[in-house]
Amino acid sequence: MRIDIFTLFPEMFAGVLSSSILGKAREKELVDFQVTNFRDFSESKHGTVDDTPYGGGGGMVLKPEPLFRAVEALLPGGKKPRVILMCPQGVTYNQSLAEELAQEEHLVFICGHYEGYDERIREHLVTDEISIGDYVLTGGELAAMVVIDSVVRLQPGALGNQTSAVEDSFSTGLLEYPHYTRPAEFRGWKVPDILLSGHHANIERWRLKESLRRTKARRPDLLSKLELTGEMKKLLAELEREQGQEKSAEEKS
Ligand code: ADE
Repeated sequence: MRIDIFTLFPEMFAGVLSSSILGKAREKELVDFQVTNFRDFSESKHGTVDDTPYGGGGGMVLKPEPLFRAVEALLPGGKKPRVILMCPQGVTYNQSLAEELAQEEHLVFICGHYEGYDERIREHLVTDEISIGDYVLTGGELAAMVVIDSVVRLQPGALGNQTSAVEDSFSTGLLEYPHYTRPAEFRGWKVPDILLSGHHANIERWRLKESLRRTKARRPDLLSKLELTGEMKKLLAELEREQGQEKSAEEKS
């Protein structure tokens, strides 16, 4: 996969793209990152990339020419990549969009830092607009890093243990079950006996039940979207029963 990033602050990406899973993915040549300062594509000798808005008002607007020139320099014919504008007005990012983007051979990210983008960038250069949530950042860089991180870790071979991406929260439609490691007892807090039992079928059942318990408590919206298997229905009924019993015990005490 190739990822091109256009930004006025290329230095922001250095640490993130060279560390941890992203750094290893690059070393293993699973992904190639190119970070370009689009100020280098300005037509003015002062490197101007923004201007005041037509019609007046405050703030500055990113001019179309530098970004069109920068992105078009990458595209000498052939298959056109998805060109993603990071902005709060975009579609809200989620794991299924991460999975979709992870299938692409080439992604281009545009990160701006100004009041706005000239609308012709949105209409004629960009294929996707993505927001990472309903809040406003100072620029698109941090948002692009979030998207890039979540896409690169899905590349085959990027994670040491390939099953860990398959079992992620959101990939399964459920939040992950609780994890434990040694010691079996820490400050009097014990690891659930079942995890020490070596009984794989019971452990799998416990994990599914705990995933359901957590998703029901924290993200009931996810649960209502999920197509439940027979086993899930049985476990949810068990949870309901247990919670009912706990409630009546509390009321008695
Ligand atoms: N740029 C500024 N805020 C943003 C957000 N929430 N998502 C994506 N890009 C942004």
